[in-house]
Amino acid sequence: MLAIRLLAEPERLDTLALPVRPARGEESRPEPVSVTTALPAGVVEEVAALVPATRLTGAPGETYAHLRPGRTPGRLLLVGTGDGDEAAWRRAGAALARAARDETYITFALPDDASPAAVRGLVEGLLLASYRFRLTDAGPTPSLTDVDLVVADPATHADAVEAARTTGRMTALARDLTNMPSSVKNPQWFAEQVRAAAADLPDLTLRVREPADLAAEGFGGILAVGAGSVNGPRLVELDWHPAGATTHVVLVGKGITFDTGGISIKPVPAMKLMRKDMAGAAAVVGATLGAAALRLPVRVTTLAPLAENMVSGSAFRPGDVVRHYGGVTSETTNSDAEGRLVLADALAYAVRELKPDLLVDLATLTGANAVALGKRHGALYSENDGLAADVLAAVDAAGEAAWRMPLPADYVEYLGSDLADLHSSPDRGAGSVTAALYLREFTGDLRDRWLHIDMSAPSWADGDDAELTGGATGWGVRSLLRWLATLR
Ligand code: BES
Ligand code: MN
Ligand code: ZN
Repeated sequence: MLAIRLLAEPERLDTLALPVRPARGEESRPEPVSVTTALPAGVVEEVAALVPATRLTGAPGETYAHLRPGRTPGRLLLVGTGDGDEAAWRRAGAALARAARDETYITFALPDDASPAAVRGLVEGLLLASYRFRLTDAGPTPSLTDVDLVVADPATHADAVEAARTTGRMTALARDLTNMPSSVKNPQWFAEQVRAAAADLPDLTLRVREPADLAAEGFGGILAVGAGSVNGPRLVELDWHPAGATTHVVLVGKGITFDTGGISIKPVPAMKLMRKDMAGAAAVVGATLGAAALRLPVRVTTLAPLAENMVSGSAFRPGDVVRHYGGVTSETTNSDAEGRLVLADALAYAVRELKPDLLVDLATLTGANAVALGKRHGALYSENDGLAADVLAAVDAAGEAAWRMPLPADYVEYLGSDLADLHSSPDRGAGSVTAALYLREFTGDLRDRWLHIDMSAPSWADGDDAELTGGATGWGVRSLLRWLATLR
């Protein structure tokens, strides 16, 4: 990860980045922004003359490199900062990371009046956009390692940088887990990664249930979905429990380490990316580790039901009846609707045993998420208007996107089954909506304190785009961390 320092005075001036903002009021062109530190003689005048000669408008995402051979700085990087809010700075940070990727270190002189929110956005943008998933040492290594930010008073920005660093680190962890090929990433491996990451932080408790434990305690959904694989299922339970916490949140994340669809096997194009089907589990683990790293004063328990949905002689069949934790049964007409079966167990366990104040689950649950909302927005469901509004506000502040969806009463009858209490894959209704209605059946007396996000679509990016890098996005880590930080 990039090393980011806050300095009151620049130490190295080989490459100097400077902010440029859009024209305001009567102005006809973008303007360099006055920075907090004295610059080498002539630089201010040179930039003032340079800006009008470029195609810069000052919008975030724009950069312009200007070489000054034999002089100091030897290179100027002009960076558009837009209207200067946190989202604009996040975009600017992402653009700067890309423009400077062939440098080793850069110094960025920030505007006199840069707020902590601006600094947080900038650092998040820098860290998120410079992420690379690397399995081997082959290929070019990104050379940028160090970014110095020059501000008037470093101390006022220390918390913002710490929050951004944690966000960047935990999003990178979620991306790494999600990008990893499933030949490596089986349920046991995922649980070991959580153990290793948790060991780096104090005061976390981890319990990993193995198949025998799951059988003894009746986690029939997780066992059914995991039955077809030689790599047995697991249930990860990770707890951040700070002394004096009054609010307890349980986060649940879908952890299918590969989804073939099972006996109801997926066609080739639909299966191609199914190593990402544990992105929900990766996000809730990242957020919980982040809560611990930032020592947020709220108890967070994460449940990650992990299984590999395979095709084999031991796989569960369409038409099987599964008995979930707590005893509710599901008729499984389609083995490709496996995510809800493992989530049902985890939700039922949370409600019965953990009895939290709030229950939130994230899952790459249905292809219908993208059909309804496109590639950016998660589909958010809750009966609780206040909780939905709070989480949507956090999603927005974090620079992610979600859209609230209905839980219509007239679809509930589609969950009916002649064989079992519930039917896991109704053939009517709307895919993402009926999946949410199915999950709701397991929320018991927490029904109105539960929130679910179907994040199938935004969990993956087709290519680099602002702070996203092609591949796993780590969607949800940023949003959950923002939301958890608002709780007391
Ligand atoms: N993991 C998939 C959902 C998915 C699809 C995630 C595309 C990311 C991208 C899930 O297990 C699934 O197969 N859902 C089915 C549900 C259906 C069988 C009721 C779907 O969406 O088709
Ligand atoms: Mn599936
Ligand atoms: Zn799935």
